[in-house]
Amino acid sequence: MADRAEIKFVKLTAPTSGTAVLLTDEKLKLGAVSAGLANAAGDAFTRAAEAAKFKGKAAKSLQILAPSGLALDRLVFVGLGNLRKPAPGDWLKLGGAIAGAVAGGDEVTVLLEKPSGRAITADEAAEVALGIALRSYTFDRYKTKKTNGDNGAKPVRFALAVPDARAAGRAWNAASAVAEGVHFARDLVNEPANALGPVEFAERLKPLSDLGVEMTVMGEPELRKHKMGALLGVAQGSERPPRVVVMHWRGGRAKDQPVAFLGKGVVFDTGGISIKPAAGMEDMKGDMGGAAAVSGLMRALAGRKAKVNAVGIVGLVENMPDGKAQRPGDIVTSMSGQTVEVINTDAEGRLVLCDLLTYVQKHEKPAAIVDLATLTGAIIVALGNHNAGMFSNNDAFSAALTKAGKETGEHVWRMPLGPDYDKLLDSKFADMKNVGGRWAGAITAAQFLQRFVEDNVPWAHLDVAGTAMGSPASETNRSWGSGWGVRLLDQLVRAKYEKK
Ligand code: BES
Ligand code: MN
Ligand code: ZN
Repeated sequence: MADRAEIKFVKLTAPTSGTAVLLTDEKLKLGAVSAGLANAAGDAFTRAAEAAKFKGKAAKSLQILAPSGLALDRLVFVGLGNLRKPAPGDWLKLGGAIAGAVAGGDEVTVLLEKPSGRAITADEAAEVALGIALRSYTFDRYKTKKTNGDNGAKPVRFALAVPDARAAGRAWNAASAVAEGVHFARDLVNEPANALGPVEFAERLKPLSDLGVEMTVMGEPELRKHKMGALLGVAQGSERPPRVVVMHWRGGRAKDQPVAFLGKGVVFDTGGISIKPAAGMEDMKGDMGGAAAVSGLMRALAGRKAKVNAVGIVGLVENMPDGKAQRPGDIVTSMSGQTVEVINTDAEGRLVLCDLLTYVQKHEKPAAIVDLATLTGAIIVALGNHNAGMFSNNDAFSAALTKAGKETGEHVWRMPLGPDYDKLLDSKFADMKNVGGRWAGAITAAQFLQRFVEDNVPWAHLDVAGTAMGSPASETNRSWGSGWGVRLLDQLVRAKYEKK
């Protein structure tokens, strides 16, 4: 699949070949090993820093070719910024900046030492490695010339030099599982819809069973048996049949109720009979970003053998206009028994999710539910690309998600719910309409979902339309499909559900 960086940990000594990365603070101080290397280059560093106005600011870098006498190719100095005011995500971003700074290299040794103060811990080193891995991701399987990835560089082999290589390696075991999960999600989002229909998506999940995830794939007969009329109504306009995949990771105690993660997996959203305008429709190959995040999360949890019971469910359909497609005005009966008047066939995500919500509450008795969906354009208008919209029936649960967002940099912003919004969904002909009108579109979508959630189950809906794809470039992501949500939910699980 996509190219990956190779990462290993080694003892903290000066490398003798390839590229060396040296960390420096805002006084241009270096750690002991780094200073030894830099000194061997005479005053090249200080002179180059002056000429380039390099001040050691966070994520800034400066490159010098190693002078004759040094067997290395080049020295790359990367700024640590102000170490007195460390913020969450600093080490992750540093890793991203390092990978960006050495693009084009081959063999890179990163001297992970601070200029002063205590040594970098194993967990911090693993964060740096995670940042490197996330930044190094490229999706180029459809490029016939493989020289340029998203970073304009071929993959690099990294050796991270640390005081305790063993301890860092252990921390990286868990973090690399998270990197794999994010990459897995990004691959799914980036893949075009001709290659990734519901059946192909389900196929891609099957290898998770090698990691110990229990997989159940449901096709049309089972979905009909479960009376998932809302989901099936969306799927009926496509030649490609729907799939619902249930993934169980049982790493907790047998008696623990699972945490449930549900994902909208619309492999392509044309809008259906309420068809979308042509401009930008290609982005709707990413309308399965919620399902991709849930899949990547399950991969991460299984890969790091998380001590938790988790169930991930993805609803995979294609929303197409067709002779068999559902029409505006059609009334469908959801698995819950509630009827829905389909006013707009382009509000299809909620029709998929509502049946997953009913299914999971009936069959899994979850301790809590998070659903992720590229649900509305309205959430992008409200929050842009830097926060997902969060809707929840539970203050403590949403506080835990907000906290995990701050810790991972995958931020969520809580939006309101309430009876006045809920009323907007009342229908003349059925129990509800699938749209609530022009205003507050992200809220009425969430309100629709809440009609399928029992009050006593902590539930959060994350509208990831603005974060799952097309986000501006960051230190840790240069890919269109971001894999957003994998790290957020992995952190939620660590902090709130995992047995220590
Ligand atoms: N998949 C779209 C939402 C979307 C838009 C995601 C842009 C990512 C980028 C969703 O199915 C949709 O079409 N929503 C409609 C709802 C409307 C018909 C009530 C929307 O947002 O316009
Ligand atoms: Mn739609
Ligand atoms: Zn959609």
